[in-house]
Amino acid sequence: MSPVSLYCIVSIAVIMVTHWLYRWWNPKCNGNLPPGTMGWPLLGETIQFFAPNRTWDTPPFVKERMKRYGSIFRTNLVGRPVIVSTDPDLNYMIFQQEGQLFQSWYPDSFTEVFGRQNVGSLHGYMYKFLKNMVLYLFGPESLKKMLNEVENEASKNLEKWAGQESVELKDATANLIFDLTAKKLISYDPEESSENLRENFVAFIQGLISFPLDIPGTAYHKCLQGRKKAMKMLKNMLQERRDNPRKVKTDFFDYVLDELLRGDTILTEAIALDLMFVLLFASFETTSLAITVAIKLLKDNPRVLQELTEEHENILRNRENKESGLTWKEYKSMTYTFQLINETVRLANIVPGVFRKALKDVKYKDYTIPAGWAVMVCPPAVHMNPDNYKNPLEFNPSRWERMEQRGASKNFMAFGGGMRFCVGTDFTKVQMAVFLHCLVTKYRWRLVGGGDIVRTPGLQFPNGFHVEITMKDEQNKDQISGSGTNPLCEHNRIDMSSST
Ligand SMILES: *[C@@H]1O[C@H](CO)[C@@H](O)[C@H](O)[C@H]1NC(C)=O
Ligand SMILES: *[C@@H]1O[C@H](CO)[C@@H](O)[C@H](O)[C@H]1NC(C)=O
Repeated sequence: MSPVSLYCIVSIAVIMVTHWLYRWWNPKCNGNLPPGTMGWPLLGETIQFFAPNRTWDTPPFVKERMKRYGSIFRTNLVGRPVIVSTDPDLNYMIFQQEGQLFQSWYPDSFTEVFGRQNVGSLHGYMYKFLKNMVLYLFGPESLKKMLNEVENEASKNLEKWAGQESVELKDATANLIFDLTAKKLISYDPEESSENLRENFVAFIQGLISFPLDIPGTAYHKCLQGRKKAMKMLKNMLQERRDNPRKVKTDFFDYVLDELLRGDTILTEAIALDLMFVLLFASFETTSLAITVAIKLLKDNPRVLQELTEEHENILRNRENKESGLTWKEYKSMTYTFQLINETVRLANIVPGVFRKALKDVKYKDYTIPAGWAVMVCPPAVHMNPDNYKNPLEFNPSRWERMEQRGASKNFMAFGGGMRFCVGTDFTKVQMAVFLHCLVTKYRWRLVGGGDIVRTPGLQFPNGFHVEITMKDEQNKDQISGSGTNPLCEHNRIDMSSST
């Protein structure tokens, strides 16, 4: 090759690469892009974004950039240009304009593991339809009926854990909630089933936040395998139900089969199975994390624990029929508990970012968000903003007393926002409140291992949360019953069997 042509090739390559790099760092936009940096070619700022940190505060990645660029900035994550919003008004607009200017979007690896037709990526009409279906199962009427069952399961499990040297609370509560949800959704009974459905979910979760490389041995591969097996089990169970229809229709499978039999439905079996998977996953993973965070915060704040305990002891004290379990009225009276739940999820920030995609060029103040770009709403930045929450790092449930008037909805997005609000919110609240009720009225606990948090940026307990649980009045109990069984729990068991 002559030196001249070599020179030409090299210069063309240099020009192309330079142009590409220029475009990477200076993306096209019909207007004013929010400030920010696009990071390394290809990688963007992905590594900085996922860097682990132990803070309860807004992730350092976001905090540093807020300082430098203000409440809206641009970046690049997993190869995608992203606008990060920590601005309450823009967040509000993003949630309100769902379907018009913005649409839900998740990184491709998420779509792969959650199924192509999962709720997160379904739009408009279909989403509303599915939401109604879920509300039918977890709406107020169903929750009322479920209350005693939740109490019974919580009591039963706590009693079991109190007999053990230590329990890992995150895993133990995940188990408890999974079994309960699976029973409600698909009448799944782990004791009667030959295969363990939750095992497949565990494999699934361990690989969820991992590098998306699908070859044998990687966590991601195990994750996909776990999902595959769980989906197969769900599919078989649905088929079994189809072959043996039940007279009394009570669960989600019944609802789905009824719906599928109708000629004009938009539901397909694939969508129903994907939805079931997401519901099972969403319920136990986030709720067990929230409960564990609550217990951790209670351990660090004895005065809050005392106030919580008083509320629940009062409920027992004022109960007319001492033999009965929790009533809906009692549940509704747990004012401090509900404040504590809000405060817990505010600090926990279990969801570090909510993703959307801009469908058109969107103008906001002086900025333009280009069509096709991803938008990440960052709840921690809102929840940790001292303008919204005084001393944001302080665990102070009472701050919620005055919150209602101050536009809580814009400044509180732990349960999502806009139309796509978390359909399971009320179910989660029942689970948390009832669990706390059973725990603080009868038990003490002591941390015996783990307990530290890490955010990557999703919340994790890397060494677990190991506690030793003991009955509060160990001596009294022995004198009264001697057997170690819990009268309340026994009663509920009878109640349940007569009502089903
Ligand atoms: C968390 O981030 C801060 C600020 O970037 C940094 O100084 C600190 O070392 C990080 N902590 C850990 C445990 O990574
Ligand atoms: C908790 O937050 C929700 C959602 O913003 C709000 O509707 C509710 O009133 C709050 N609960 C309390 C006790 O402040």
